[in-house]
Amino acid sequence: MSEVHVLDHPLISDKLTRMRKVETTTQDFRLLLKEVSLLMGYEVTRDFETKDTTVTTPICEGTFPMLAKNFFTIVPILRAGIGMVDGLLELMPFAHVGHIGLYRDEETHEPVEYYYKMPENVERSEIIVVDPMLATGGSASDALGSLKKHGCTNIRLMNLVAAPEGIAAVQKAHPDIDIYVAAIDERLNENAYIVPGLGDAGDRIFGTK
Ligand code: PRP
Ligand code: URA
Repeated sequence: MSEVHVLDHPLISDKLTRMRKVETTTQDFRLLLKEVSLLMGYEVTRDFETKDTTVTTPICEGTFPMLAKNFFTIVPILRAGIGMVDGLLELMPFAHVGHIGLYRDEETHEPVEYYYKMPENVERSEIIVVDPMLATGGSASDALGSLKKHGCTNIRLMNLVAAPEGIAAVQKAHPDIDIYVAAIDERLNENAYIVPGLGDAGDRIFGTK
């Protein structure tokens, strides 16, 4: 079974609480999401493999760790996942970005895929799928399924807020994929929104409501 990592560092928790507030503006929401994504990125990348490399400092030669791989891909689930990309790119400016477009059908709450674009040879890369909300888990499960269909295996999932139902659904569909979240909330409501959550992440990031 995959591991669920709850990244409840005080700075992460404080920023998330500010994002939850209904009065937080789109401008502040976006900035907080970028900051929290960067902070979460430290933990999400913690077990990236390193290899010892010999370098010459101004003083002498020495052997030190460097990243073993040089191919990393951040995959936001559109739209809301886009809000987490800049923070991670600050941490890993060398990363590639792939996109998966999914929206939840408002009646069935089932995800519908409308876009898929990855860097060439993405299956060789280390992948972080990002989306602020893990509600029913349908969108994340589908996105992870699409990547696997294209041969990807080194994938991890990063969400800001998750419902227990979403975590269970992703773990059932993808027991091999670790999940990183800032908080696990109580439950879903009758519209499959996370309670207490932070509302509609896409609308709050892009100011569409
Ligand atoms: C939201 C969110 C996730 C999805 C989570 O996107 O960003 O992608 O819902 O819900 P789930 O776990 O039940 O699938 P939404 O469908 O509202 O699309 P948007 O990002 O374009 O606003
Ligand atoms: N999508 C969101 O943006 N928020 C939720 O609470 C659930 C799905």
